[in-house]
Amino acid sequence: MKTTTLHKRDRLDQLDRHTDPRLAEIVAGLQATPKRLSPKYFYDAVGSKLFDRICHLPEYYPTRTEVDILSRQRQAIAKVLGTGMELIEFGSGSSIKIRLLLQTLRPENYLPVDISAQHLHESARKLKADYPWLKLTPICLDYSQPFSLPVSRQQRIGFFPGSSIGNFEPADAEQFLRQVATLLGSGNGLLIGVDTPKDETILNAAYNDGDGVTAAFNLNILQHINALTGSKFDTARFAHQAFYNADAGRIEMHLRSVTEQRVAIAGEWIHLAAGETIHTENSYKYSRSAFLALAERAGYEPVQTWADDRDWFNVHYLRVR
Ligand code: AVI
Repeated sequence: MKTTTLHKRDRLDQLDRHTDPRLAEIVAGLQATPKRLSPKYFYDAVGSKLFDRICHLPEYYPTRTEVDILSRQRQAIAKVLGTGMELIEFGSGSSIKIRLLLQTLRPENYLPVDISAQHLHESARKLKADYPWLKLTPICLDYSQPFSLPVSRQQRIGFFPGSSIGNFEPADAEQFLRQVATLLGSGNGLLIGVDTPKDETILNAAYNDGDGVTAAFNLNILQHINALTGSKFDTARFAHQAFYNADAGRIEMHLRSVTEQRVAIAGEWIHLAAGETIHTENSYKYSRSAFLALAERAGYEPVQTWADDRDWFNVHYLRVR
């Protein structure tokens, strides 16, 4: 379907379209074939709460499996990582998982990095109350973009849990890991959680839960886009779709238009045929060997991997070469 340009008097947000790169990115994605939206738009206040609910769903095994690995292996992890380091968490959110390691790692400084100032300050306040000895340096920025840190004498260790690396395209994941290696510096390390390929029934169930929380999370991206751009997507006219694409080794999430429709956004009409989809997320699953090969290409050497009994989730410790 072609996208038609509206008449001049109907054009909305023209100025924003030329000044705000987010708007241009959103419109370009919706005009592309196939249509897409970046998964970063899932995480407004409602989306972040829905994601927290996803993490507690019986079908969504990654969170509880990773939490289980981290809590069972905390001593072994501390033995390999040491203590008293500068600990940087990428996309720290509510800083829940790091709590499993704080007591054993006893970092000299914990630097949670997150794009949400509210999340950062709220969780920093709670951490300070629960760990009065902990030195905290919250950093509010988009961790997927390159950034630098003040020089430090301590060993620097990165923490990137939750298999968020799976939401990058593989080439972007490699590029991001390379960027993290530069930030951490040679000889320092990265502790990273990675979801693994498994029986498709398990994978499909994790992204199609019985309570419809993942569906609500997926549909909420349209509400967020409406709030950001003034568009009028009607979520009742879309359906959640998630499935494992075995050839690509990833879960794909889409929003399927249940009717033919057109939606105005920033002075453009977006046309959707009945059944046409907007691709909202990929979640790549990496076997141990596939992930370690990727990490090696990005400048790391594998040190140790911890897993659950079924090998449903891996926590890798990598050293920057
Ligand atoms: C944040 N990320 C690792 C989640 C995942 O599993 O890819 C996001 C998610 N999407 C649907 N459910 C959870």
